[in-house]
Amino acid sequence: MQRLDKYLANLGLASRREIPALCKMGYILVNRETVKKPDFKLFGGEILGFQGQEIKVLERVYVILYKSAGYISSDEDEFGYLSYKKQMLDCPYVNLLHVAGRLDVDTEGLLLLSNDGQFIHQVISPKRDKEKEYEVWLQSLISLTDCEQLQNWVQLDDGYLTKPAKVQQLEEKKILLTITEGKYHQVKRMLEAVGNKVIYLKRLRIGDWTLEGLKKGEWKLIEK
Ligand code: URA
Repeated sequence: MQRLDKYLANLGLASRREIPALCKMGYILVNRETVKKPDFKLFGGEILGFQGQEIKVLERVYVILYKSAGYISSDEDEFGYLSYKKQMLDCPYVNLLHVAGRLDVDTEGLLLLSNDGQFIHQVISPKRDKEKEYEVWLQSLISLTDCEQLQNWVQLDDGYLTKPAKVQQLEEKKILLTITEGKYHQVKRMLEAVGNKVIYLKRLRIGDWTLEGLKKGEWKLIEK
């Protein structure tokens, strides 16, 4: 249960101070009826109406964004780069969301987002062994021996030994790599460990969630 003014403010539609006046003027609808009280209680599932928009009240939101390269995985713009949020300003829940498993600025693909802290923790927890599948374009040819080495383990530049991975060779310089870990720059560092270099990277899947139905820059609501 949540107050209307708090929910609207969290969505970033108006500040909490502005909301009493907006209610009074009849600008805010719940299930297509004007609501005059800012402390009106929402239980989830209601349809909010504001400035011609209709937004379903969801306590917990789960979203997949097909992030383009060039956007960072932080909630705010940083270091001259735009936040992933700038790619999804048409999502009414964008203000609520945080990333479950970052992608580098030059990596594209599946970014999982939510306002459910427990869910985010479960997705990124190393204990959960969630599979992450990447399409990896390489600078040099990759040998069968290197693929086998990646499948077993490789030693990263900080000495860390990676867990077993799945590797499928797609082309001479392109593989599908599935890992269950999420160390910093892990895929790039794994390929460096076998003397190669990643020139482009795309995340296709986390667990059972995929980019199905999405074009670059698009997002979709998902079930947990
Ligand atoms: N591994 C990387 O090196 N970069 C990413 O963005 C994701 C996984």
